Amino acid sequence: MTPLRFNRRGMLMAAGTGATVAGLAYWWQASHDSDYPRGSPLAVDLTDLAVGKLLTLDWQDKPVWVLRRTPAELAALAAHEARLTDPQSEKSVQPESCRNRHRAIRPEIFVAVGLCTHLGCTPQLRGADGFTCPCHASHYDLAGRVFKVGPAPANLVIPAYHFASENRLVLGSTA
Ligand code: FES
Repeated sequence: MTPLRFNRRGMLMAAGTGATVAGLAYWWQASHDSDYPRGSPLAVDLTDLAVGKLLTLDWQDKPVWVLRRTPAELAALAAHEARLTDPQSEKSVQPESCRNRHRAIRPEIFVAVGLCTHLGCTPQLRGADGFTCPCHASHYDLAGRVFKVGPAPANLVIPAYHFASENRLVLGSTA
């Protein structure tokens, strides 16, 4: 299989070909919602991650975000669910432990693969407004839940992770 890489805009590319991978209506199309990414354990120290800050990791050649959300941002997640495509994350990819409104094990810590579920661009954090994809304007809230506007069909993918201690997050496995 041709390895995939990302270009400067965050578009998914076939490595060595210079070609953007097209026709992936849902590039991370999982056969089942339990097909969340796992493996390649990576320990992350959250001690210095301030409230409101976004940390971007490079994991399995993918950007993975860790965002420490504020209490106000968490409270706001309930307010716009009628405008979301999949508010309960029933058709989206995440570990079962993250199938909740916050899409997280600990509400304040949000972990997600930072790639749009349309064609794999990298959305950008717009403060309390959530994440906006620069390619075709899909919009996600701060739990990675996609709004009905825009072409992205599903919420952001959440990888396997767990907490080994208060400030030590381990990406890649659920325990
Ligand atoms: S890649 Fe098309 S909206 Fe994000």
